[in-house]
Amino acid sequence: MTHDLAQRARQLVGVVSAGLSARHGEGLAEVLARLAQQDIGEAACRAPRPVALPVLQFLPRCLAEVVRFDPQLAACIAALQDDLQWRQSSSYSDEILGTGFTDNYGWAEIVGPNGFFPGRDFLLGLLMLGPGRHYPDHYHPAPELYWPLTPDSRWSRGGQAFETKPQGAIIWHPAMVMHATITTDTPLLALWCWTRDTATPARLKAA
Ligand SMILES: [Fe+2]
Repeated sequence: MTHDLAQRARQLVGVVSAGLSARHGEGLAEVLARLAQQDIGEAACRAPRPVALPVLQFLPRCLAEVVRFDPQLAACIAALQDDLQWRQSSSYSDEILGTGFTDNYGWAEIVGPNGFFPGRDFLLGLLMLGPGRHYPDHYHPAPELYWPLTPDSRWSRGGQAFETKPQGAIIWHPAMVMHATITTDTPLLALWCWTRDTATPARLKAA
């Protein structure tokens, strides 16, 4: 654990907190209250074992979009890109989700058991989805915030029609509410947060 890594990780959490604090939307108050309860002190920081995934081929394109939205946030993500442990849900496969899905999907924790700070029943991380993908209806007990940092992603909640959301939109999924995401030509990089009840993983509607 180096002082430098802790500084970079704390800076990312700080910039995310400031960015979310400047916005308005359902769920934000809960996210910010829970984030403020997490220990992001240097002593709590540890280095995840870095893991890369094929979806990272789209990270440069995503970061080019994030620079236009929030250059400081883009710089903070770029500064940690080699330190992140990218993961996939163990129950997801191309057989279930369609050919190529697992090469176009992944998430990394910033706060959480596999992130830089352990978190107390709280997850904060990044999600990536390649272009032209459909992450179908799924649900989980954890209330969830998504903050898409790239433009033109489409979101459905509670079985409703998909809506295109702008870069920086605040998207809130209450506990157990079904939700799905579609990408168009632009790959998706989003910040996400599970505020509580994190022990139960997401389940696909059809599973
Ligand atoms: Fe979710």
